[in-house]
Order: sequence, then structure tokens, then C-alpha cells
Amino acid sequence: MNRELSSVEAVPASSAESRFLRACRSLPVDATPVWLMRQAGRYMEEYRALRSKYSILEMIKSPELASEVTMQPIRAYNLDAAIIFADILPPLETMGLQLEFVKSEGPVIHNPVRSRADVEALRVVPVEEALPFTLDAIKLTRKQLDPLGVPLIGFSGAPFTLASYAIEGGSSKNYLHTKGLMMSDARTWHLLMEKLSALVGNYLFAQAQAGAYVLQFFDSWVGALSPADYREYILPHSRHAIEIASQANVPIIHFGTNTSGMLDLLQEAGGDVIGVDWHIDIDTAWQRLKPGSAIQGNLDPVTLLGPWSEIEKRTREILDRVAGRPGYIFNLGHGILPTTPVENVRRLIDFVHAYTATA
Ligand code: CP3
Repeated sequence: MNRELSSVEAVPASSAESRFLRACRSLPVDATPVWLMRQAGRYMEEYRALRSKYSILEMIKSPELASEVTMQPIRAYNLDAAIIFADILPPLETMGLQLEFVKSEGPVIHNPVRSRADVEALRVVPVEEALPFTLDAIKLTRKQLDPLGVPLIGFSGAPFTLASYAIEGGSSKNYLHTKGLMMSDARTWHLLMEKLSALVGNYLFAQAQAGAYVLQFFDSWVGALSPADYREYILPHSRHAIEIASQANVPIIHFGTNTSGMLDLLQEAGGDVIGVDWHIDIDTAWQRLKPGSAIQGNLDPVTLLGPWSEIEKRTREILDRVAGRPGYIFNLGHGILPTTPVENVRRLIDFVHAYTATA
């Protein structure tokens, strides 16, 4: 790789004027900004060392630990944004659901929501009371990031993706209970989505107030639905949550996977940047959005487990398809995998900067 080009500065003096913030607003940049979903995590030795002493929920609920984990990838790589260390599921705890991360099984909700009475019993508590730890972690992390000029991303699960965990009681393949409730009892479904959209909207707004520069709305599993169901059962609620969050006046990234057939609908629900996975060519995705839209994506995370020559080839192909359009943020199409070699992560980030540098 060209060393001279690879030393492009990753962090301009001020976070607000950073290339990441500029790209979110579709403004020209000096090089393509890069961050990676799940950039703090098990593929990093520093993360595993802390994780051997604390559970994931202990780490999320301690502002000091959450802030430390947020900073780990920032110290290791030339990333253009940090994402606060948290998870999409703790907000469900605040509603009265019992959440546990079970080793090698993933998240489990011990009292899943299945009936009208279950939905009626869900509480919507003010986020400042319910999730103070993440808001405090944001404030603490801003103090460390500001001198570096690296902006901080806050996030929330979207109402549908949260509903899928609340109803299934954990991760799911076919979403039988979730789609079952949607089809058999639309009134209960909408009541659940109303509660979730209020929680999500207020949580995102509070994160921006606490100091997040950008918010990501994770609707990771919504691609399991048909466009018609999305329009009827999801769109109004996602829109409501995004409308509340938008009052904070920070850019919002709307992300989902398997959503190639409904990118226009995601955009209709809201967001300044649309996240795309790898099931669609990035230039084709652009054509499905309103002119001037910003996009984030779309390298298959498995690519990072391959040889460097393949990583470079596939990254170059994405960047060539983007062809210098403003409003592009490089990212994976979904979270980084735990077995990813750190050296590939470092090279990928430096390659994107070097290949797209305009100065
Ligand atoms: O991106 C980041 O670096 C910030 C941290 C972050 C985590 N989870 C930490 C985490 C973010 C943004 C999330 C979002 C999240 N969590 C999503 C949406 C994004 C996506 O991947 O689609 C979802 C669906 C979850 C739910 C969740 N959390 C699952 C299914 C699991 C278990 C599976 C797994 O990867 O282990 C988690 C646990 C979790 N959240 C871990 C991390 C780093 C791994 C926990 C561990 O250390 O054992």
C-alpha cells in the first residue's frame, strides 16, 4: 500500500466539522469516513481482558467501563467515529422484562410478551431514571473524545427489532410469535409498538442531549417482513420514534439488514443516512433512495476473515461504485465478527482513507 497516502489524518480538530458529520449531511469530505458496527467487542484482546472480569450487563451499567470499552478501538485504529458501548436490549429491562445474556446462547428474556395483558403491563419510565448509566457513559466519553476530534454515536434498537426480542424471548429465525401477534391481534401489536416507539424516541433524544453527535436506529431484523407488512405495522411507529429523536437536531442513521426490497420505505420512516447490508450493490441502493441521500455500508463482515488481497479487492469495488458521491460512510453491512483478525481491521480502515483521499 502507498504509505504516503495512508497517513491521511483520521481526525480533524473539531468533531462537529469532522468528515463523519460532514458525510452524514452529504457534504464533501477530504476522505471517506469509516467506522465499524460492533467495533468494540470480542475480536479485540483489550475487550476480552475486561470481559473476563465483568459480565456484559455490568460493563454496560458502569459508565467508567462502558467508556473505556468505547475508547479501545479508537486508540487502536484511525476510526472516524466512536459508538457508545451499550446494547439494544437494556431498555426492555426498564419496561419490566427480565433480560439475561446466557453464555453461548445469546440474550434471553425470561418473561416474554405474548398477550394483551402482558403488553398493558409494560412500563414506559423516563429514560433519565431508567437508563442513566448510558447517558453518563456518553458524557464521560465525550471528555475523552473531544480532544481527539472524534464524534460519538448514540444508538437504540428500533421498535420492531426490540419487539422481536420481547415477544420471542430471545433471538429468532422465523419470528413466529412476533408475526403471529401482528397477524392475530393488530390492536395489541400497535399498542406494543406505541410503547416501544415512545421509549426509543425519548432514549435517542436523551442520548443526543447527553452529547451524542449522531444517532443510529438499529432495525436489524426488520428485513424479515414483507414491504406491505412494514408499511402497515412498522413504518408509523419507526417514524414516530425518529420524529421524537429528530427534535435533538442531530443526524440519524437508519439501519437494517435484508432490507434491499424496502430501502425506500425505511427512508420514508425517517433518517438522514440509510444503512445497507451486502445483499445489494451500493450504487443500486442509491438509486432506490431520494436524490442526495446519504448511505452507510456495505462490506460483508465475513470478508475481513479472508486474505488481504480479497479484502482490498472487495473494498475497492464498493468505493469504485460509490465513485466519490458525497454522503457516503464506509462500514460493514452488519457487525464485525468475533474471529476477525485485528490486523485486517487496521489495514481496512487505512486503505479506505488512502484510496479516497482527495487532497
Ligand atoms: O457497536 C458497538 O461497538 C457498540 C456496542 C453494541 C453492542 N450491541 C455490544 C454487544 C451495539 C451497537 C449492539 C447492538 C445490538 N445488540 C444489536 C443491533 C446490531 C446488530 O448486530 O444487529 C443487536 C441485535 C443486539 C442484541 C445482542 N447483544 C445479541 C444478539 C447479543 C449476543 C450475540 C453476540 O454477538 O454475542 C448481544 C451481546 C453483545 N452486545 C456483545 C457486545 C459486544 C457480545 C457480548 C459478549 O461480550 O459476550
